[in-house]
Amino acid sequence: MKKNLLITGASGFIGSYLVETALLKGYNTIAAVRPTSNKKYLQDPAIHFLELDFKSDQTLDHAIREFVDRFGKIDYVIHNAGVTRANKNDEYDQVNCDNTKRLVHALQRNTQIPEKFVLISSLAAYGPAKNESPVKATDAKEPLTAYGRSKFKAEEFLYSLKDFPFVIINPTAVYGPKDKDVFFLINSIQKGFEVYIGNKQQLLSFVHAADLAAAIFIAMLSDVVGKNFLISDQQAYTSQTFNQQIKSILQKKTLSIVMPVAIVRTVAVFAEMVGAITGKVPILNRERLKEFEAPNWAVDSSEISKLGYQPKYNLEEGLNNAIQWYKEQGWLS
Ligand SMILES: NC(=O)c1ccc[n+]([C@@H]2O[C@H](COP(=O)([O-])OP(=O)(O)OC[C@H]3O[C@@H](n4cnc5c(N)ncnc54)[C@H](OP(=O)(O)O)[C@@H]3O)[C@@H](O)[C@H]2O)c1
Repeated sequence: MKKNLLITGASGFIGSYLVETALLKGYNTIAAVRPTSNKKYLQDPAIHFLELDFKSDQTLDHAIREFVDRFGKIDYVIHNAGVTRANKNDEYDQVNCDNTKRLVHALQRNTQIPEKFVLISSLAAYGPAKNESPVKATDAKEPLTAYGRSKFKAEEFLYSLKDFPFVIINPTAVYGPKDKDVFFLINSIQKGFEVYIGNKQQLLSFVHAADLAAAIFIAMLSDVVGKNFLISDQQAYTSQTFNQQIKSILQKKTLSIVMPVAIVRTVAVFAEMVGAITGKVPILNRERLKEFEAPNWAVDSSEISKLGYQPKYNLEEGLNNAIQWYKEQGWLS
């Protein structure tokens, strides 16, 4: 019998990798979507769809009952739905924290406690490293942003539960084919601009979405419960190295521009005002700027390595893979 796996946020960037990995691993894969979700990357006929509306307890109960009627018990849940950018800070709490609580309560109410509930949180729940060492899973969590705080609150909620088997995944910046955030930086280099915010050196970490998906399944299938796993490709890179790798893959010469933080902050305020009028969430806002200013986002992913995680991609290989995809799809000329 195939195990039933419910994946929320299946229509998103990371969700599509989770669905692909689940199918490859032979799970009965149930993709939770909204009526408005774009299913472009969910074309495999083996995928089952379930409309999961987080709006109220009733709508969630209804979705869980439908799940059980159609597929039987819920064996695993990967709760990946979340917002990484929002025009209003409340939205982070509502989607990233309140929806997590509601989903867990609905599972409990309907006696559908899975073998493992995996929350896709973020490195942002920890905040940047406090010193020169990489962030460790045992470090105190001191999120810098409203996004990070919303993930932290969802994590605290899980830790407050009794008899609910969960693990929490804290990925660093995720990139790969289909991603739009790192693509924005790649595209600006393609256009000849290499932009830095402020003069300070920044250490970054990355993980390719395919490696992240592999790590998530390792944590889900392990005996471990009640624990955080930080995920990266086990390396740290300066922002210069990151840009250099993109330039060398694209074979581009660039104009290097160092933007003073005060100017970027003004641009961010303007972008937020435009976002408030148009309803579109800007790629840069003051919350994001806080992340750009922090000097060290390196992570120690040794806890997941102990369970057998080995990333397939280092940054150069991963960027090559992503850039090739962007070119094939016509995102990059
Ligand atoms: N990308 C990264 O670098 C990164 C790093 C660390 C952690 N994460 C976490 O990974 C998860 C996935 O991120 P992503 O980069 O794949 O983002 P994404 O492409 O924007 O996908 C987000 C997914 O969440 C769903 N979603 C958003 N709001 C929802 C709501 N109110 N109700 C139900 N579903 C909702 C979206 O559904 P629709 O398609 O219907 O909008 C979409 O499927 C998030 O929890 C994020 O915090 C991402």
